[in-house]
Amino acid sequence: MKQNIILIGFMGSGKTTNGRRLAKKLNMKFIDTDDLIEENNNITITEIFKRYGEKYFRELEHKMIKELVDEHSSIISTGGGVIINPDNTKYLKQIGIVIYLRSTVDNICNNLRNSYKKRPLIQKKNWMDEVKSLMEKREAIYQNNADITIDVDNKKHNQIVNEICKVLNARY
Ligand code: S3P
Repeated sequence: MKQNIILIGFMGSGKTTNGRRLAKKLNMKFIDTDDLIEENNNITITEIFKRYGEKYFRELEHKMIKELVDEHSSIISTGGGVIINPDNTKYLKQIGIVIYLRSTVDNICNNLRNSYKKRPLIQKKNWMDEVKSLMEKREAIYQNNADITIDVDNKKHNQIVNEICKVLNARY
């Protein structure tokens, strides 16, 4: 196995922030798949959704995931919906250890209260209901595809990063 560490979880669960910190601590490269999609296509995620819709975004996302096959020793932060496509999770499992940053709907809503407007899928007046309904659809998928689950609610970033390192050390 190419030992990458892949972070999955709902929007606002801290994949990017904790991923960056983890990469720094472990002296590994950090990759954010949403950033790569934006860079490679020279367009923001918001604009992709607005101009071409979710289906097209998912195609770009899938293409991006497949392009990670040669990656190694990297911390890879993924978009919250990456797990919707079973082919994506299959690829991710092949290239590394999948860590699910698990968070409750309440905590997610709290984290997203200032940034939900930047997330195309929940740019709505009733965005909290949307978070709840998406979480209901996705929760089991995150869980079923994770090698490791870390509960992130009410924890500081350094606590989460330390916990990840501890579990990795114990198991791998
Ligand atoms: C999405 C999550 C976003 C981004 C896109 C779709 C989702 O990433 O990929 O807006 O379906 O949950 P973050 O989880 O980094 O916000």
